[in-house]
Amino acid sequence: MFAAMRGVLLSVEDLGVEFPRNGGSVRAASGVSFALGTGETVALVGESGCGKSATALALFRLVPPPGRIVSGRVVFDGTDLLPLPEEAIRRFRGAGLAWVPQEPGAALNPVLSVGSQIVDVIRAHRALSKREAWAEAVDLLGRVGIPDPAQRAREYPHQYSGGMKQRALVAMALSARPKLLVADEPTTAVDPTLKLGILDLLRSLRDERGLSILLITHDMGAVAALADRVLVMYAGRIVEEAPVQALFDDPRHPYTRGLLASVPRVDLERGLLPSIPGSVPDLAQLPPGCAFHPRCPLAQDACRAAVPPLVPDGPGRRVACPVAQAAGVRS
Ligand SMILES: Nc1ncnc2c1ncn2[C@@H]1O[C@H](COP(=O)(O)OP(=O)(O)O)[C@@H](O)[C@H]1O
Ligand SMILES: [Mg+2]
Repeated sequence: MFAAMRGVLLSVEDLGVEFPRNGGSVRAASGVSFALGTGETVALVGESGCGKSATALALFRLVPPPGRIVSGRVVFDGTDLLPLPEEAIRRFRGAGLAWVPQEPGAALNPVLSVGSQIVDVIRAHRALSKREAWAEAVDLLGRVGIPDPAQRAREYPHQYSGGMKQRALVAMALSARPKLLVADEPTTAVDPTLKLGILDLLRSLRDERGLSILLITHDMGAVAALADRVLVMYAGRIVEEAPVQALFDDPRHPYTRGLLASVPRVDLERGLLPSIPGSVPDLAQLPPGCAFHPRCPLAQDACRAAVPPLVPDGPGRRVACPVAQAAGVRS
């Protein structure tokens, strides 16, 4: 499962996202670079507040103002997205890259039936009659596992459970037939049994439609179930990248090791990482050098002096930790 063999669908280079705060600014993403292959599932993991959503929103040019993209290139399916005029980027949203947002409640319009919201998305991208689009909306709701979809399509979001809303959002995202689905914490708001259902759904979409998926999560169980490759983010930077099995077998960055040691019980959403003391730093007041050094059991003087670059570290791997690299750290 190597992206290079299947063609690169998305390539991100040196992406930077900033939010102004108290006269200064917060770097939610810095120097973020990665590629995603056709049909590949890449997980973007890290504690809450480390910049995962900001990175994903930047791919769609949907960073909420006054936040902004301050650097980088995003090439999707051969098109450089960041310089595009607004009307042109709108065509890519939905039909090229589709977004399953983190908050299912907020993402659905409370005064429209779920079916008609999906119809709107379908008709925004394809020349179908209302009747044809409705039939397709019902079909999509059925495919994502909503029971009795013809009836359910006429219902309003408040009549749906959390898990059903999440599925409806996946149906809506799929309705424009995207090549890449970006799912932001799709299993966070749902209970454990529904969580498995949503992961199954994403897996079958990938296998049947060759859909590419960027899975944003702090849930390492979801990563293990679905991802081909993993990007680990800390304080706005990617600190490790590896094929999923290699990451679980031999995590290299001390932060990754902490994340994996926290599986499965600890609630990373609350910023708890019991195997590593401390919590995610305030992005407005990052320590000098490696942002992880105050929590790192391996920190040395060099780690306090400069941000370590993300460098190759074995087949398909990169790591931003000179100490782990030099020591060939094993878990
Ligand atoms: N709308 C916003 N306004 C101001 N700051 C924001 C906003 N969204 C994100 N940030 C800043 O960017 C950081 C990263 O946020 P986010 O990308 O949502 O993290 P994650 O998705 O990993 O939990 C936050 O800690 C915050 O400092
Ligand atoms: Mg988020």
